Amino acid sequence: MSDIQKEFLDILADVRAHLEYQRALGIKSIELPQGDRTDQPRSSSAAKPAPSPVATSKTGTTPALSSSPLEGEDKRRGGDIAGQSMTLAAIREEIGDCTRCKLHKGRTNIVFGEGEPKAVIVFVGEGPGFEEDQQGRPFVGAAGQLLTDIIEKGMNIKRAEVYICNIVKCRPPNNRNPEPDEVESCIGFVKQQIRAIHPTVIVTLGNVPTQNLLNTKQGITKLRGVWQEYEGIPVMPTFHPSYLLRSPGEKKWVWVDIKNVLKKLGMQVPTKG
Ligand code: URA
Repeated sequence: MSDIQKEFLDILADVRAHLEYQRALGIKSIELPQGDRTDQPRSSSAAKPAPSPVATSKTGTTPALSSSPLEGEDKRRGGDIAGQSMTLAAIREEIGDCTRCKLHKGRTNIVFGEGEPKAVIVFVGEGPGFEEDQQGRPFVGAAGQLLTDIIEKGMNIKRAEVYICNIVKCRPPNNRNPEPDEVESCIGFVKQQIRAIHPTVIVTLGNVPTQNLLNTKQGITKLRGVWQEYEGIPVMPTFHPSYLLRSPGEKKWVWVDIKNVLKKLGMQVPTKG
């Protein structure tokens, strides 16, 4: 056998080992970029070595994905790799200095999310506003103060004990709703965050997180207060704190929803109403 043939067999063995590694992670297919189609000249990236895992899952028993996207994965669509779990740090690393959608052009900081990595409650908002963009932290403006009050005064839980994040990680201009392509680019990351934390309950704040996580066009007025489910996790949709600032009369409904969340968690419901 010639040296070239031996080298070719070595490469084939490497490719097979790489694919078996991916299959062990539960990946069933790998999409090749246009340039790597078999009827076109191959790019050198086809023979890159397998990525190695950088972290273990929450239980430490199953391997987690490498923080770098797989060969051929659509890098413009963030984080949504079905069935895989990554640590919060690995998800943040994968987001990197993101330019996947046009929101990156106007941002000061990426607002990843914050809180307890093993929280039993995850609050999901829409996207950062001005203050959040400045500070790189979710819900720190006026609506954030109200959310903090709901958590600390209403639920009697410290804000640091829950996890708070948004559907999009960069501020939409003039605080407009994120557009579908922006949500599409970013929603995989919040899904990964939820998978990493695996909370007992998710609370979605307003239309944007409710409709996008639950994949529905129904509005928050219909959905609020009615238990839903996301990947087997109970979801309580409720009004967004910004809406409550404009319509304080609606706070009573959020209080109803929050009491239901506390009941679901088996936590004491404060008597204040
Ligand atoms: N509104 C949101 O939806 N998220 C924030 O982080 C702040 C305001």
